[in-house]
Amino acid sequence: MTHPEHQRRAYLQAMGIDVWLPQDAPEPAAASSDTGAGFADELDWGELRQCVSDCTRCELAGSRTQTVFGIGNQNADWMIIGEAPGAEEDRRGEPFVGRAGKMLDEMLRAIGQSRDAVFIANILKCRPPNNRDPEPSEAAECRAYLERQIALVQPKIILAVGKIAAQNLLGCDDPVGRMRGRPHDHNGIPLVVTYHPAYLLRSPSQKRKSWSDLCLAKAQAAEVAV
Ligand code: URA
Repeated sequence: MTHPEHQRRAYLQAMGIDVWLPQDAPEPAAASSDTGAGFADELDWGELRQCVSDCTRCELAGSRTQTVFGIGNQNADWMIIGEAPGAEEDRRGEPFVGRAGKMLDEMLRAIGQSRDAVFIANILKCRPPNNRDPEPSEAAECRAYLERQIALVQPKIILAVGKIAAQNLLGCDDPVGRMRGRPHDHNGIPLVVTYHPAYLLRSPSQKRKSWSDLCLAKAQAAEVAV
């Protein structure tokens, strides 16, 4: 249920009516099942998928072909998190299916994993026009979906590929070079940062560092009790 005072103010504002509050009036709590940060916390897989596919929380809903929910093993040990769908992903409704996806497949194969064994998702479920970076507000609106996916999968390790995924998940502005090479924590789940596969296609000399990140992630996953 939406907080009634919130609902009233939102309605009045939408009608173009100024809402005057007494100076010391406390902000009404944003307590709502559909507007709060954890609005997806109770959803099962089917409900979550439906909610994502119907989502209109940001303006990307107007330009997408379809949402890109994520794919893979719902009980995966590894969760791979990228940035946002590109043109090919937007067309096919599946993450990492373009050239970067092939590179990601190779990275997974190198550590004895496969697309079917892991769960792959993105910070955003919709493609930003012209593949621009996600806006912080878009990432914020989409965050509850990803957090619910993480909570449902309960992976042993999260691999954040690229700056956008890592910065959003770790809540910082650091470059990948500073975030990679050591384990982080995401609500009790070990998280390792590495370069985005699209970057590795452009800068193959960084593959060596990415390989060591993958080994670190593998070691972290092995430390988690079954
Ligand atoms: N790049 C990403 O970060 N995610 C995709 O799904 C495709 C390309």
